[in-house]
Amino acid sequence: MTKRVAILISGGGSNMVALADSMVGDHPARPCLVLANSDQAGGLEKAASRGIPTAVVDHRPFGGDRAAFEAALNTALAPAAPDILCLAGFMRVLTEGFISGWQGRMLNIHPSLLPKYRGLHTHARALAAGDAEHGCTVHEVTPALDDGPILGQAKVPVLPGDTPDSLAARVLTQEHRLYPAVLRRFAAGDRSPIFLT
Ligand code: GRF
Repeated sequence: MTKRVAILISGGGSNMVALADSMVGDHPARPCLVLANSDQAGGLEKAASRGIPTAVVDHRPFGGDRAAFEAALNTALAPAAPDILCLAGFMRVLTEGFISGWQGRMLNIHPSLLPKYRGLHTHARALAAGDAEHGCTVHEVTPALDDGPILGQAKVPVLPGDTPDSLAARVLTQEHRLYPAVLRRFAAGDRSPIFLT
């Protein structure tokens, strides 16, 4: 049975594009919705041009009421009946209440080699630490931020003269390889981790 995948974005959606473009042929999943928390998210147009239904739930009218925002997310998701959620550059922290409704069926990509550098500014932190390598991680989403079971990682070298932007660009290229590879395996029911070099 083909799995239905909703992809949540906040920005340009380059990971969403990589995921959507990978779900073809004998892939066990297909995109059913791209949901953004802002109507300015550049990924919305990229999704629409691929014929993927889109929706927007702007978090700002909800102020600090995260539960109300998340209820609106679920209302927007329901008609698409997703089996899997992929957070792809989605920049809102989700509460345990929302996550508990999707746990085991929700993935995220984080731009570091978890458990190193949970949270923000991962590339600057890797540079500041003098790390020789860096990378990205796809993990199952659990209530603890950037902390769920690891489903895949991809490594990149840190090069002399790297800036946070040059390192981020090198990592992003690997994100676009890793996330589709993990989703394909996950949608087939295989949670064994993938490590790309
Ligand atoms: C990426 O660095 C990703 O690791 C992080 O959000 C950034 C932008 O992703 N989660 P995208 O281009 O919007 O997919």
